This record gives sequence, structure tokens and C-alpha cells, in this order.
Amino acid sequence: MRAPLIAGNWKMNGSLELVATFAEELSQTALPDGVDAALMVPFPYLGIARSRLPEAISIGAQTLSDQPSGAFTGEVSGTMLNDLGVQMVLVGHSERRTLFGEDDSAVLARVQAALEAGLVPVLCLGETLEERDAERTEAVVLGQLDAVLDALSADQRQRLVLAYEPVWAIGTGRTATPEQAQQVHAAIRARLASYDSQLAETMKVLYGGSMKPSNAAELLAQPDIDGGLIGGASLQVDDFLAICQSAG
Ligand code: G3P
Repeated sequence: MRAPLIAGNWKMNGSLELVATFAEELSQTALPDGVDAALMVPFPYLGIARSRLPEAISIGAQTLSDQPSGAFTGEVSGTMLNDLGVQMVLVGHSERRTLFGEDDSAVLARVQAALEAGLVPVLCLGETLEERDAERTEAVVLGQLDAVLDALSADQRQRLVLAYEPVWAIGTGRTATPEQAQQVHAAIRARLASYDSQLAETMKVLYGGSMKPSNAAELLAQPDIDGGLIGGASLQVDDFLAICQSAG
């Protein structure tokens, strides 16, 4: 059985005060048995988040360089993230793909860099509204998945977490229906099984895209949805905790 994972993605938001608020609340509030939680915070807050938040809460970065070190001014490497005690890193978030030009090969390079640094890559997949309207959702999502899995070893594949984030549901308040999300998650699970039946059984596939306390339980009740990747609602500690409760 896959333990549900609720991961908050603060994007380019947050503050030292918000880290302190989350540290205080998450230190006092027990998560439901078997539910894992993670916070993906901006680079400046990674170290203090790791030191202030309970160990049970994983800390993640939102991207990383595809290089281990060198003359790449402004970049942050996986080894530096590992140095800070960071455990996970988002790769291929739709905002990285659309705003920063990360294509499938750039995403693969960052997955490989994360694995090299001992981090858990959270590989984000998702289609645009135009692609969904053109009935290309599965072709796009599975193409993004294959572009990474085809280049990894069986052992490397086992270390990934996936997140299906329909681009048209991100930050829009227009959440995929549970049926829409489950349909894509099931297609992802079937593609994983084509690589390795055990991979399909064990790999967590999160849903992201306007998951809120009001809709989380119905989404998380779907058989192939193993958790959530939460944007806006992860900036409110009560909402984030409510979604974690829904996963229990
Ligand atoms: O990575 C999670 C994010 O893309 C979802 O954002 O605000 O729709 O929950 P939001």
C-alpha cells in the first residue's frame, strides 16, 4: 500500500515568519497515522525550515541545477541541497517548463542530477487546456513520463515520486474532477506497469491543481491518487493541515 504524501509547494512565496508558523503548528499537531508531509520552500528558507520543522516533515526544493558544481552563477546544485538536509526536489513543474523553458531533456537532466545527489525527484507532469481540449492529455502526460523513465535504470525509477498537475487547474481554482484526475492517474499507473509491475504498485502519484480542504477528501479517495501537491492552500497552515487530515 502506498502511504499518502501531502506536499506543499510555496512557489516564490513565504517568509521566515511563515516558516516559524508552520514549525510551531506542525510541532503541535500530529499527522494522521501513515500520512507523510513535505514542504517545498524557496531556496532562502530551506536551511531554517529543515532546522525548525519536525524531522517527520520532509523538506524539498522547487528546482535544482543539472550540474553538480562549477561556474554557473546563481544556480543551486543537488549536493548543496543535500548538504542542507533537503530530501526532495520538484522537477519539471509546469511553471519551470513554460516560464523557464525546461523541455523534456532539461527535466531529465535535473532528475538525474537529483538522483546523483541522493535526493528524491518529484517529477511533475501535466497537459494544457488546449492539449486536453484536443484530446491529447494522455499522449502529453505519458510522453513527459517516458522521456524520463526511458533514460533511467530500474533502480533509479524506484526512487521517483510523480505529480500529475493539469496546467489548467494550477492556481485557477478550477480543480480536475475526481473522475478526470483518476482517469489520468490510472493511465500513468498502467504506463508504470509496462516498465515494471512492482513500480506501478509502489510509485506514489500525487495530484496537484487547486486541491483545497473542500475537495481534498474526494480526490484522495481515488484509488490511483496517492496524495497532493498543494500550491495556494499550502501557504495557510490550517488549510495544509486540513488536507493532511483528509489523507488519513
Ligand atoms: O505544485 C503545486 C501547484 O502547482 C498547485 O497550485 O495553487 O493550484 O494548489 P495550486
